Amino acid sequence: MVKILAIETSCDETAAAVVEDGREILSNIVASQVDLHKRFGGVVPEIASRSHQEVISPVIKEALDMAGLGLAGLDAIAVTQGPGLPGALIIGVATAKAIAYATGKPLIGVNHLEGHIFANYIQFPKLRPPLIALVVSGGHTLLALVRGWGDYEVIGQTLDDAAGEAFDKIAKFLGMGYPGGAALSKLAETGDPRAIDFPRAMMGSGDFNFSLSGLKTAVINYVTKNKDSITKDDLPDICASFEAAIVDVQVSKSVKAARTRNVNTIVLAGGVGANTRLRSELAKASKSSGIELFYPRVQLCTDNAAMIASAAYLHYLQKDFLTLAAESQPNMAL
Ligand code: KG4
Ligand code: ZN
Repeated sequence: MVKILAIETSCDETAAAVVEDGREILSNIVASQVDLHKRFGGVVPEIASRSHQEVISPVIKEALDMAGLGLAGLDAIAVTQGPGLPGALIIGVATAKAIAYATGKPLIGVNHLEGHIFANYIQFPKLRPPLIALVVSGGHTLLALVRGWGDYEVIGQTLDDAAGEAFDKIAKFLGMGYPGGAALSKLAETGDPRAIDFPRAMMGSGDFNFSLSGLKTAVINYVTKNKDSITKDDLPDICASFEAAIVDVQVSKSVKAARTRNVNTIVLAGGVGANTRLRSELAKASKSSGIELFYPRVQLCTDNAAMIASAAYLHYLQKDFLTLAAESQPNMAL
């Protein structure tokens, strides 16, 4: 039995988890900093680093306590090495290095995006590559071909904003606070997704890239132009139409990627993977193309350390360890 402690501090969640053999979650602690960043309408990097530093030790202790383990009971220490906020990643990496040094246990660096994909590995033991992964989060939007676990080819990505970033910016613009992705999506449930015809950018671009900044501008222009006639009652339609514009392109490109690469499995990953419309529309389109779709439970979609520990298990089996000279990689590619 391989027990791995993983630490995740790439953005605004301080997280630690202990996972056995890549799937058995013994503990999964997430300390969110949302309340600290809310009043600034977005993540403030300096505040994120300081808060990670303040809570990382108690978060790790809680993860170990809940798993019923001391450091001696661990087989390896894993950490998110990148991509992410430089000052935030450093806290996790320095802490993991210190624990690895003090205990003599191997140190494993995990790519945050690989971690998001592994949320599916945790939940679906029958899942086997090859598969197409749609990774959609606050910082990333990409389509990857997973040839095997650990063998990735990025086949498309956003040329500007990430999907979660677009959700959050529009939510903020509409006065729903930060991060407003989930709140916007909740309001969209009661709206008509066909009410306003927002642009489906790059729908027919012939590649697997995305662009979201034009849609953001279109929504802002629409609201500004009609500000005298728009009331609170129009918000659900605006939200639903915006959401549908994002979801349509993502669904179409994911299914096309699977068809083009002769793959019959798609997995959803990342915080936006929690979106109800994305899940249901992708499920419909996959089904009608004979593709099987998997998506993790919401708790594993958004940032957590269990997914990092799960991906680290693969690296552990391959003896893919870091030295204590390793550094964080804010721009680490999948
Ligand atoms: O994966 P994640 O926790 O952090 C990053 O790695 O970025 O993703 C967070 C993002 C935020 O932008 C948040 O607004 C978005 O995921 N999100 C949603 C929903 N739940 C979270 N976006 C749309 N619909 C949701 N239900
Ligand atoms: Zn993430």
